[in-house]
Amino acid sequence: MAYAAFRSIGAYAPEKILTNQELSEMVDTSDEWIVKRTGIKERRIAAKDETTSDMGVKAAALAIERSGIEKKDIDMLICATISPDYFCMPSTATIISSKLGLNNVTAFDISAACTGFVYILSIAKAFIEAGMKKNILIVGAEKLSAITDYTDRGTCILFGDGAGAAIISATEDKSEAIIDIHTGADGTFADLLMTPNGGSGSAHDSLDQEASSCFMQMKGNETFKVAVRTLTKDVVDILQTNNIKSEDINHFVPHQANYRIIKAVGDALAMKEEQVVLTVAKYGNTSGASIPMAINEVYESGDLKAGELMLLDAFGGGLTWGSALVPFSPLK
Ligand code: UT7
Repeated sequence: MAYAAFRSIGAYAPEKILTNQELSEMVDTSDEWIVKRTGIKERRIAAKDETTSDMGVKAAALAIERSGIEKKDIDMLICATISPDYFCMPSTATIISSKLGLNNVTAFDISAACTGFVYILSIAKAFIEAGMKKNILIVGAEKLSAITDYTDRGTCILFGDGAGAAIISATEDKSEAIIDIHTGADGTFADLLMTPNGGSGSAHDSLDQEASSCFMQMKGNETFKVAVRTLTKDVVDILQTNNIKSEDINHFVPHQANYRIIKAVGDALAMKEEQVVLTVAKYGNTSGASIPMAINEVYESGDLKAGELMLLDAFGGGLTWGSALVPFSPLK
């Protein structure tokens, strides 16, 4: 039986920093309000000519280099994004594959918003366990600044740009294997967080300028409440199902949407401060990129050791959610 091992991580954050102070000059907000309600201090913004695939390529190149696996052996590439280079086609995954010179891959995008990375991890795990693929590159990449309305203080303070990537490989050693992944969705909450214009469901004439704008709209407070409720249940469930205790988790890596959501879920699990990975202050919410960017921070700080157990959790538009129990298993 083949198992799926999480071999390596890489990430990229664009250079340009957008501070709370700068946002307070654009909309009616303040550094104090943003920090108190979200924990965010700044976020990164991609250059005008820098695309989602450009960022994904940089993160992926690092993940490949750190994996010890050769490019020619990568047989699948999945990209999670809600800000693709092109809205219909080609997929951002195919663009990333060509920029990286990966010529022998199955490549496609998935749309699960901020839960995207957990979703692509689960797809990679399934393909490997089914024996269909051996080395899968998964990429969460977002240029959310391209779909953010910088006149809406309810959303523009939250989001940033960036990318993260990982290599998931087949192994016969069960001790290296991703233990479990839970994913879920409930479309009855679709209107809480959406980009209402530009798709086939758009109320506008598709040639209309307004219809081509794909800005995000969010009912923040309602989303917040469903997020805390759903995530708390989900993480407790995945730990209980697998008979794992909170104290067995080395790194709790939540989606970085809001410090208050992370704290509420961490407290429900009685997580100690040192177990919880926090990047929300410096990157804000980078949707599908947020979890791999956070794992990369732990890796680059030298604190992610082989065999250590990560608990991932995410929540986002759809609504979608997911959690995963993932040992870090670099090639020996
Ligand atoms: O990543 C995927 C999922 N997304 C999330 O999980 C995001 C979830 N939601 C949130 O993080 C929070 O709901 C927000 C940070 C978006 C908002 O915080 P909140 O504590 O839920 O505030 P609220 O929406 O209940 O608004 C409270 C007040 C309102 O004013 P009034 O009606 O009390 O006078 C808002 O108009 O705060 C006002 N407000 C702001 N004030 C200053 C809303 N946004 C801002 C702002 N600056 N940026």
